Amino acid sequence: MTGTWFWKQPDKESGQVIYRELTGDIRLEHVDFGYEPRKLVLRNISLFAKPGQKIAFVGATGAGKTTITNLINRFYDIADGKIYYDGIDISKIRKPDLRKSLGIVLQDVNLFTGTVMDNIRYGKLDATDEECIAAAKLANADDFIRRLSQGYQTVLTGNGSSLSQGQRQLISIARAAVADPPVMILDEATSSIDTRTEALVQDGMDNLMKGRTVFVIAHRLSTIRNSQAIMVLDHGRIIERGSHEELIAQKGTYYQLYTGAFELE
Ligand SMILES: Nc1ncnc2c1ncn2[C@@H]1O[C@H](COP(=O)(O)OP(=O)(O)O)[C@@H](O)[C@H]1O
Ligand SMILES: [Mg+2]
Repeated sequence: MTGTWFWKQPDKESGQVIYRELTGDIRLEHVDFGYEPRKLVLRNISLFAKPGQKIAFVGATGAGKTTITNLINRFYDIADGKIYYDGIDISKIRKPDLRKSLGIVLQDVNLFTGTVMDNIRYGKLDATDEECIAAAKLANADDFIRRLSQGYQTVLTGNGSSLSQGQRQLISIARAAVADPPVMILDEATSSIDTRTEALVQDGMDNLMKGRTVFVIAHRLSTIRNSQAIMVLDHGRIIERGSHEELIAQKGTYYQLYTGAFELE
């Protein structure tokens, strides 16, 4: 998929609306954040992702991985520091514009009552059926959807209760693919899904990541190893950063996580 995204901004001097192509350059500078006053959950987080780069977050439960991604989405506003999207302070970007420019695939999938096609189209409301099907193919969802009783017209109810967890994830990947944003936030699933579907989900996620800036809460070693930079979080701070090889050579926390029998959360 090759969508082009544009940013609509009034030009300061002429007052005319100008369109800028979005490239997916994200920067966090000295970000502090707490859900409650005087209780910081993230401290002095600085990082950048250039267009097309993949950044993996690893660390124990409660370290702050999900919180960082919540801030990039602007689900919460930061207490101190700055976050820039293509050089624009995200507090200056209208939330609907920001959300359209960021795709999210989380472990918990929300499907509404409606057809499979419409559930995929939710990623981009004006997408044609052909675009939804192309997205489903990229996501590895097309095969199972075609085997449903009514194919793409099968009506889902109860958050897709007739589907397996893995199938719901494939639909959420298709939904993100049809939106085709320059930046993706992924929370890799840890839930036990059957091996065959898991392979499809992983492959679909890999397809989705290609050519985008990606922030991934990573559980799979292959994802981590393929990232430009790994951020190791501990109690709201980035304590180590670098490539897999660099971090292994440091013989620090990452090395311990990697060599120990551990579960990446
Ligand atoms: N909505 C919330 N309200 C208050 N505290 C929260 C909320 N979400 C997460 N936290 C706290 O923020 C810290 C970081 O959590 P989180 O970002 O979810 O970590 P991770 O994703 O690395 O497990 C934890 O101490 C957690 O209890
Ligand atoms: Mg989390």
